[in-house]
Amino acid sequence: MKVAIIMGSDSDWGVMKAAADVLKNFSVDVELTVTSAHRTPQKVHDFVKNSDAQIFIAAAGMAAHLAGVVASLTTKPVIGVPINSEPFKGLDALLSTVQMPGGVPVATMAVNGAKNAALFAVEILALQDDTLAKKLISYREQMAAEIEFKDKKIQQDVSL
Ligand code: RP5
Repeated sequence: MKVAIIMGSDSDWGVMKAAADVLKNFSVDVELTVTSAHRTPQKVHDFVKNSDAQIFIAAAGMAAHLAGVVASLTTKPVIGVPINSEPFKGLDALLSTVQMPGGVPVATMAVNGAKNAALFAVEILALQDDTLAKKLISYREQMAAEIEFKDKKIQQDVSL
């Protein structure tokens, strides 16, 4: 099982490290590259065509065409992560990533939604992997337990 994380710039890594961390926690192999739809289009093409990853996560900010270009080059699932940047706070990247023409889908996450991009990739892989599916259930149970703990703690700590 392998997921490729493609970033338009190394400046996206501060956000995208969360995706790599989630994938590693689920023992999914990660292939990481920096390559840009605008600055290095041939490298994007070659990377996508040669990668044996099952899913691509593509992250870019501003005029974020990376995920769409990746999707144009493969029929594997492509998950887009719009990156927050000045002056439009990621709205530019969100619209550039999400507004794909019919026929070439990109599953677009929230602005800076690296964690959910990785979890969504794991959910796709888990369709054909029982171990991953069980890990996802444990992950949700642990998350619910943490919220319960926080609820009890705030009841104790805050007097109204
Ligand atoms: C996008 O432009 C990148 O994905 C990055 O989010 C943004 C700025 O890139 P740098 O100028 O920091 O390399 O293509």
